[in-house]
Amino acid sequence: MKIHIGAEKGDIAPTVLMPGDPYRAKWAAETFLDNPKCINEVRGMLGFTGTWQGHPVTIQGSGMGMPSLSIYANELISEYDVQTLIRIGSCGGMQEKVGIRDVVLAMTASTLSTPSRGIFKELNFAPCADYGLLAAAHQAATDKQVPVHVGGIYSSDVFYDERPDLNEQMMRHGILGVEMEAAELYNLAARHGRRALAVLTVSDHLITHEALPAEDREKSFGDMVEIALTAAFS
Ligand code: HPA
Repeated sequence: MKIHIGAEKGDIAPTVLMPGDPYRAKWAAETFLDNPKCINEVRGMLGFTGTWQGHPVTIQGSGMGMPSLSIYANELISEYDVQTLIRIGSCGGMQEKVGIRDVVLAMTASTLSTPSRGIFKELNFAPCADYGLLAAAHQAATDKQVPVHVGGIYSSDVFYDERPDLNEQMMRHGILGVEMEAAELYNLAARHGRRALAVLTVSDHLITHEALPAEDREKSFGDMVEIALTAAFS
């Protein structure tokens, strides 16, 4: 048991999918896993363990933002020896070519700051995805005929952003989308020698101002879960 995860050691699988929303963890576990069992309810941040095609998998909510994700990812790594951590979430599109519903695989994640700032100090560390997971997720998305983009994303500390100038620079430098968690996940994976990837669905768009209609959210989220599971066990 850890402070924020109330599970016993053997209750968490070596592979963990991490949606921001705990209710999405519940939905994904009930939809895609066999015999899902709730393994965490502390603070309502639900986690479930079951199997997918015979492989043990945990789906654990991370909460929103890097400080929250950092707590769960640290405990999953240090207390439960998790080896593969895949964020499944949404992002805001930042390029014309990136459409609503498309999948973005984050090769790198730029930030202003992360909870790891204190150890990196003046260093601009470049958090990056595990290449094996990235390549396998790309293959899985292609096989499912889901439009997919691979490249850099921006992990922001704020949803209600007050820095349009910064977004402009991100777009100018080819950043595909903005979310709020991946960079710290990649930092922690690098520090502890684990595999990490962020698989994201474009839910809104900073250029076109389109948003994913509510009725399409489940289907897009489901595609992402299947891509993440396929990549984890490829
Ligand atoms: N900004 C930050 N995080 C997000 C967004 C956004 O526009 N869309 C989905 N996650």
